[in-house]
Amino acid sequence: MSFSKHVATYTDPQPTEISSILQGGYHHPLLRLWQNERQLTKATFIYPLFITDDPDEETVIDSLPNQKRWGVNKVIPYVRELVSKGLTSVILFGVPLKDGVKDPVGTAADDPNGPVITTIKALRENFPKLFIACDVCLCEYTSHGHCGILRDDGTLIREESVRRLAAVAVNYARAGAHCVAPSDMVDGRILAIKRGLIDAGLAHRTTLLSYSAKFSGNLYGPFRDAAGSAPSFGDRKSYQLPPGGRGLARRAIERDLAEGADAIMVKPSTFYLDIVSDAKGIAKNVPVAVYQVSGEYAMLHAAAEKGVVDLKTIAFEAANGCLRAGASLIISYFTPDFLEWLDEPLY
Ligand code: PBG
Ligand code: ZN
Repeated sequence: MSFSKHVATYTDPQPTEISSILQGGYHHPLLRLWQNERQLTKATFIYPLFITDDPDEETVIDSLPNQKRWGVNKVIPYVRELVSKGLTSVILFGVPLKDGVKDPVGTAADDPNGPVITTIKALRENFPKLFIACDVCLCEYTSHGHCGILRDDGTLIREESVRRLAAVAVNYARAGAHCVAPSDMVDGRILAIKRGLIDAGLAHRTTLLSYSAKFSGNLYGPFRDAAGSAPSFGDRKSYQLPPGGRGLARRAIERDLAEGADAIMVKPSTFYLDIVSDAKGIAKNVPVAVYQVSGEYAMLHAAAEKGVVDLKTIAFEAANGCLRAGASLIISYFTPDFLEWLDEPLY
């Protein structure tokens, strides 16, 4: 079309179409809140706690801002404060620090006097309404730092690993955990744990939350630092999913549902929201959880420190992204902050 023709055919703008006006829908802060299909609440969040084998420990974790490693005696008063602010749920990670505790099969994972089992019991006694989940894995307890039991060539022995993981999960459930959440990614462990729970008469009172779509990204560094669980050789790429593996994630979710998972998880969060959306599509009848992992949390803190973002605003933005994608619950190190932020006026 030539310029002259364009000028020649020019007409005044048409009266605005009724459907073209969107801003009437969100001109007020309350209207903007109503645009959320679901609102964040305190019950949306599960708080990860690192528990050590020194009962009186309370140590700052350098790589995870505002997070500490706790001994059982110190964590109870801390949790009491959080419960009084509305905390509904925690997930426990054991961090054995004593010398000589680790071995090739992760014996210490379910030591009856170890940090996780002792803390489950103490939390149950002190906080009858608190929901207690336990991460189930061997990497914090194995001498080699991998998530299962290994052959000499460094590969996972599937049968032996799932048997050991099932025993650990059953022992956590027996100690009083409401939920066991295996993060190891060994094939078939959901089935083994479910059978173990059924045989132990615990299946009816234990939720099995599978870390189904757990990706081997670059975002777990601060956690491995906090938990002392970095592998001593190699990496976790032969059992955690490759970052591009959308199809594998779908298969893992389908498999874990078939094996008896009561809920499934996607991890990490922000970089994998398409997977959360897929998960909600596949796992229509169970809650979908998302884990905003240590690296994501540390990155947002670093960005806020640099003045790139405002911490509270970006934390809400990230959490709302998880809800939008289809998550019902969010495991997050921001939980104590949200307990305060959700008490503040919403706008
Ligand atoms: C243990 C486990 C890890 C995380 C949760 N459970 C570390 C890993 O798989 O290397 C990561 C959590 C985080 O980074 O916040 N298997
Ligand atoms: Zn592990």
